Order: sequence, then C-alpha cells, then structure tokens
Amino acid sequence: MQKPNDRLRGQTCIVTGANSGIGEAVATAIGLDGANVVVNYISNPEKAEEVAHQISINNKCGDAIAIKCDVSKEDQVQHMFKQTIDHFGTVDICIPNAGLQRDAPMHEMSIEDWQLVIDVNLTGQFLCAREALKEFMSRGMRPEVSSSLGKIIHMSSVHQIIPWAGHVNYAASKGGIVMLMESICQEYASKKIRCNSIAPGAIKTNINQDAWDTEEALQKLNELIPYKRIGIPEDIGSAAVWLASDESEYINGTTIYVDGGMTCYPGFTTNG
Ligand code: BGC
Repeated sequence: MQKPNDRLRGQTCIVTGANSGIGEAVATAIGLDGANVVVNYISNPEKAEEVAHQISINNKCGDAIAIKCDVSKEDQVQHMFKQTIDHFGTVDICIPNAGLQRDAPMHEMSIEDWQLVIDVNLTGQFLCAREALKEFMSRGMRPEVSSSLGKIIHMSSVHQIIPWAGHVNYAASKGGIVMLMESICQEYASKKIRCNSIAPGAIKTNINQDAWDTEEALQKLNELIPYKRIGIPEDIGSAAVWLASDESEYINGTTIYVDGGMTCYPGFTTNG
C-alpha cells in the first residue's frame, strides 16, 4: 500500500463511481493524502460502504462517506453536493470519474446505448463540474489548505484522441471531455480554479476484462502498450493525488496521459 502523506489535509473530495476500479483507487489515494472523501456509487452499496470504511481507517486526518447518486441526473447530483457540504462543510476537489461502455458496431448501435454512454460519461461530468464550480465560487479561497479556489479532475481516456471502432459512443463521450475541461479552464482559471483531465490507457478493471483475462488477450493488448504492462488502478490514483495537490499548482487545462505510451502510435515501432 502507498505511504500516507499530507498533501490534501483539510480538503474534501468527491469521487464519482468510486466503489470499484479506477474510482476506488483514486478515492483511496486521495484519502491516504489526508482529504475527506465522498465515495459516490450507483450500485453495490455494500462495496461503497466498505471502500469508505477502509479509507477512514487509513486516513489520519480525514473521513469518508458513501453517497448514492446517478451522475446523469441533475437533481441527484445537486443532492449529492448538498449532502457533502452538509457533512464536510465544502468541496475542494471534484473528480468526476463514473463511466461505462456499451459497445456495438456503429450501424447496429441503439439510440439507448448511445444516449446512456453520453449521459453518464459526458453529461455526468458536466453536472458534477458545474456544481463544483458553484461551490468553489460561493465559498471563496481557503489559503490554509490550498493555493487554488478548487480543483476539478475529469477522468477521460486515451480514446479522447485515439479513435475506437466499435465504441463510437464511448470515444465521442471522451472526445467531448477534452473541450469540456479546456473550456472550463479558460472560463474559470482567473478565479484560481484548476481544471485538468487524466486520460488512462488500458487499466486492469472490470470494464476491459476481455482484454486481459487470458494470456492470449493480454499479449495482444501489450502490442498496444510500449511499456509492455497493463496499467493498474493505483497508477491513476497517484496521478490524481498529485493533480489535486498544490505540487501541480501551475498545471491547468491539461490532459495527463497515464497509458504506458499507448498514445505514441506503437504500430509505427517497426513500420512506416
Ligand atoms: C477503456 C478500456 C480500454 C482502454 C484502452 C479505456 O478508456 O475503458 O476498455 O481498454 O481505454 O483501449
């Protein structure tokens, strides 16, 4: 386990989709660095409670609670922010991470599968970021905990830049995240709000189990990864903590790719 640190002491962070995979690792890492954490979930409440419980045991100065909310629903997102502020006083860091895939060849993709992915992956991140911005601006600076008024860290994907056949809904949602994040930066940076994205490559979670659960699949996947290992959720957790902390204070409007080099066109290593 990572060593506890203190970089986020006194701050409160909402992580959406935090009861599994990347979200769980991000919430855990944020808690280890001293922040209060809201573990958002939509299904499997027992797992969310367990993640929150583990975070509060390991966190030397903060606490964690689980809050249920469908991030694609405006009223539910607003309610989650209200519950968080009632409980912890404010929100300093917002990490809209909840996301899903509903894959199909484009010509067979249903409107429902298109809409669901856009609603959760893109609209969900818009709704969380909007509530975070409102809270940051109404609360004002807290120089004792951070040099920024607030931080938003969008969870994107390498597919914000790598086209993905058979996954047009997912790729379009992540392509949308780039302009959402950069436009927020442009609009609110002067208020000392930082908005960045993390773009994970292939990270070993349930969402891409087919790509790693056999030796053969893993070997094929590694052809896309110059670093020749699949990522683990903790790779994303450590990037998120750093982006949330003052160590990255001058980083704004940027996407950090955490992908073992996947975005460096590995197909060209011996070709072209
Ligand atoms: C997707 C995974 C995929 C990875 C690399 C992620 O955004 O959710 O299913 O393995 O990108 O292609």
